[in-house]
Amino acid sequence: MKDLIDRCQPLLSLSAEMNFDFDSQTRRKLGYQLIEVVDRFFTSLADRPVQPAAEDRIYPPRLSRLPETGEDPAQVLDQVCGELVDNGFHVPSAHYLGMMNPTPTYMAFLAESLVAALNPQLASLDRSQTASRIEAESVRWVGELVGWQTAPSGTFTTGGNEANLSALAMALAAHFPDVIENGLASIGAQPVFYASMEGHHSLDKSAGLLGLGRRALRRIPVNARLQLDVPELEAAIKEDLEFGKKPFCIVATAGTTSSGAIDDIPRIHEICRRYDIWLHVDGAYGAAVLFSNRHRGLVRGIEQADSVTFDPHKWLAMPFSAGLLLTRHHEVLERTFSVACPYLQKAPAGTLPDNRNISAQWSRRMNSLKLWLTLRVHGRRAYERLIDRQMRLAESFARWVANSEYFELAAPQVLPILNLRVRAADIAPQNIDALHASIIEEVNRDGQRWISAATVNGQSVIRTMVISYLTEERHIKDLQASLVAACCSLGLESKSSTVPALEPNAVQPTMPGSIQLTPAALENVPPA
Ligand SMILES: Cc1ncc(COP(=O)(O)O)c(C=O)c1O
Repeated sequence: MKDLIDRCQPLLSLSAEMNFDFDSQTRRKLGYQLIEVVDRFFTSLADRPVQPAAEDRIYPPRLSRLPETGEDPAQVLDQVCGELVDNGFHVPSAHYLGMMNPTPTYMAFLAESLVAALNPQLASLDRSQTASRIEAESVRWVGELVGWQTAPSGTFTTGGNEANLSALAMALAAHFPDVIENGLASIGAQPVFYASMEGHHSLDKSAGLLGLGRRALRRIPVNARLQLDVPELEAAIKEDLEFGKKPFCIVATAGTTSSGAIDDIPRIHEICRRYDIWLHVDGAYGAAVLFSNRHRGLVRGIEQADSVTFDPHKWLAMPFSAGLLLTRHHEVLERTFSVACPYLQKAPAGTLPDNRNISAQWSRRMNSLKLWLTLRVHGRRAYERLIDRQMRLAESFARWVANSEYFELAAPQVLPILNLRVRAADIAPQNIDALHASIIEEVNRDGQRWISAATVNGQSVIRTMVISYLTEERHIKDLQASLVAACCSLGLESKSSTVPALEPNAVQPTMPGSIQLTPAALENVPPA
């Protein structure tokens, strides 16, 4: 026995040296230390600036050497929390009003910590019987909201990018069954797919990665409501067929990234039916309206889709990463992704599939627990209230814009995204772009709030949105005041204080002469 202990001694001392295995007291101490930081952070979010003021945004390069030995964990934790919180860019702030990234729910934070501790491996069912069942249940809960006649299937993804890539892979496999084994060459012609000019750029990326080539994505112009123009779509399909190309998928977007436009899904479905084409709905952001009985009609026709992208890490207040690919064709999903693997046990027929066989991933993190836990604790209705409230906030913001002396809506408000444009006729487009950039810089300068720029249908816009569950009327009022202050500080003078009220949901013509660009204002505009 002594002999055995002696032989094990080097191993034991090595593990003591590595010191990953903290004792219970240290674990608790560090855990409480972190909880204190997180709790203070959550408490601060309703008023926390998004980032430091412009003059304090100093980020020196980190050039220290790879640590050879360790340091005191409490001190290191304290230091990094301080740096990340004090000098960070805070997406969860209620003043983050520029893109579709949310404040995470607290239950999601707890779930993420639990997942990191338990580290379930969801690649194989046999090693994750309980975790895989929770994941499948989450997919079903969301999938059932789509309203398919058959049972929904699907998989958690890292986000909308992976979900769109996976949906295109499925559409290819459904249309050209040989492609999985024999590749694109077996098709013998160029496969093509379609999305609007406003559809997400992950589609271009996917086309390249799938070996289709980015030109296989045909971008279709949009109509006045920034929806994919259906007659143009049909004309493009006819032309491609004439040239011997093979249309295999149409991507309808439910909630475009820049303006929140929702394509006319029923009409696009009719085209898919007529030409035997897979219908994918990229609802990464907008499909969340399915949680609201009042607003789910906005994505009418989604139940005709073959597959749907739905990102809980956008409107459902999940931290990164949580995306979903949903489908009504489980068989195609499994055919696209399953690979025989002799070193892993295969899930028996009639049970849940192994996740590695329905997904582009292999080793797999449990990205579902945060959504599952949030839904168990708060229920669908909490999301319904969130969506309904944010829609009301956006509608009232749109009315403010419509009556503003300085701004007009550059696109119809459909979801809680607002595209603003300065009311200034007679300015060259490249100057409008620069003027918008200056306004955004002014609004973001003190770090309190954050909005972004976008180009919608080729036109520069100021992009604002409501995404945090903490954002209230007062945050929008602060943004409005700051937008007006930015115009004043840039020397934009309002000519008239009486601007006719405009219909917020109509695309507004530019109002000639409502803002006078003084020489001072033009000096403030950086060169385009
Ligand atoms: C409509 C749409 N689709 C796909 C994506 C990509 O999603 P992710 O960033 O989660 O990969 C986005 C991102 O904003 C999006 O707006």
